[in-house]
Amino acid sequence: HWSAEEKQLIAGVWGKVNVEECGAEALARLLIVYPWTQRFFAYFGNPSSPTAIIGNPKVRAHGKKVLTSFGEAVKNQATHAKLSELHCEKLHVDPENFRLLGDILIIVLAAHFGKEFTPACQATWQKLVGVVAHALAYKYH
Ligand code: HEM
Repeated sequence: HWSAEEKQLIAGVWGKVNVEECGAEALARLLIVYPWTQRFFAYFGNPSSPTAIIGNPKVRAHGKKVLTSFGEAVKNQATHAKLSELHCEKLHVDPENFRLLGDILIIVLAAHFGKEFTPACQATWQKLVGVVAHALAYKYH
């Protein structure tokens, strides 16, 4: 269900993404912009200022893990069945939050890539984050 052009747009950006930087930034922004998401991450410590969240090494480490796993979706869909089980059945994360994180990731990519992140590119990434959110919510269906 991906055209050659879409694959190219995804790969072109993904090949240049700094997974550690962008992963940390996306997770930090999620926690700051949608503070209720902090509830899931008690081990990050008490809710604190945006600067403290951005500088928190646990947030950075987990952000990298999440974006790395996101990258696996770029290659292969099957990887997310287990993750769906974890997020739905064990963690009880409301699937709306998967969409929010996807949209935040788009904003992070837009900020990093500037003009290079064209509308066509955004449209394709929007489709990809939708696919990942859907795969993670699979266990709720
Ligand atoms: C753990 C991926 C969204 C909450 C994880 C792990 C991965 C992951 C790879 C680690 C699993 C393991 O260690 O076995 C993703 C992806 C997301 C996503 C690809 C994309 C949409 C979310 C959202 C929330 C969330 C939106 C909550 C608002 C958690 C929590 C853990 C976790 C609480 C366990 C943390 C820990 O104990 O270290 N996620 N996640 N995730 N995720 Fe997600």
